[in-house]
Amino acid sequence: MASSLESMYSDVEYYFKTFELYKQRVTTVFDEQWKAEWESIIKGLSERKVVKDKDDIRMLTVATGQGDSEKIIIEILVKLFPNSKLKVDVVEPAKIQLDKFKGTAREMTTEHPNLTFQWFEDTFEGYMSKRQNNSYETKFHLLMCVHGMYYFDDWTFAVDQFYDLVLPGGVMTNTIGSGDSELGKLFIKYREWEGNPMNLVISNDVTSYMKAKGLSYQMYVRKCLYDITGVFEEKSAEGNVVLNVLVGRRDFRMNAPQDLLTKVLDFVMENSLEEKGGRYMTCDDVNIVLVKPA
Ligand SMILES: C[S@@+](CC[C@H](N)C(=O)[O-])C[C@H]1O[C@@H](n2cnc3c(N)ncnc32)[C@H](O)[C@@H]1O
Repeated sequence: MASSLESMYSDVEYYFKTFELYKQRVTTVFDEQWKAEWESIIKGLSERKVVKDKDDIRMLTVATGQGDSEKIIIEILVKLFPNSKLKVDVVEPAKIQLDKFKGTAREMTTEHPNLTFQWFEDTFEGYMSKRQNNSYETKFHLLMCVHGMYYFDDWTFAVDQFYDLVLPGGVMTNTIGSGDSELGKLFIKYREWEGNPMNLVISNDVTSYMKAKGLSYQMYVRKCLYDITGVFEEKSAEGNVVLNVLVGRRDFRMNAPQDLLTKVLDFVMENSLEEKGGRYMTCDDVNIVLVKPA
């Protein structure tokens, strides 16, 4: 039966505190691999001659948060295309995050005068309607969205629009949690149990949708582990935040029907690993990369 538990994103301030804790508890040993993959994705732009020496490069990035991933990708672009002007459109609805990103951007533009940003404090949906209203028709060589899909009104709309926003030969990238990791498997189970897929989209949904549309893509998997220690302790404030992240719902232990809570905790017990006094679940990322036919 469908229930109406609250989204974690219903209170943005609460959401970002939760997200910070999540980031502190996630580990990956593949950062160097991830950077190397991004370098090869970006090199493809010159190898396919989509961007030639001194050409301007246009990038769109959506749901950036404070722009941690973008900083790394922009540094790669600047290194690989030292003679190009790089123009970046940034779309992020949370002001506090966008302001942090603007701070980082100021340092970057001082160091790299060829780099400029255009800021859109807006949802992706809002950005798209503003584009339409203002006849803003710019398209992009590189589009990036890292863990944004969960909160869009309609992620299928986003996939369609992302594709449309990329120039021929350009690259659309979308990073999202893997449906094959333990956390992703919980998302799949949970949305059946609650009867509500809100905020629980996974990589497999996106790739199935793209396949059905005949779109070719490549997947780059980044192995990650989520430290869920404390999740079974009813009175642990941090453990309860961990639990909220596992199901994408606010105050889950307090508000969930007992049978739903039991199903989730049983699943987590069976699908996590105890090690060195802690407990861990896999929560891999998948970067879904599409090169638009020229
Ligand atoms: C999981 S965070 C990811 C942030 C960042 N990309 C990262 O990986 O650290 C999701 C981001 O999506 C943003 N967001 C929520 N709803 C959105 C929407 N409709 N359109 C665009 N971004 C949205 C949130 O404000 C938040 O910054």
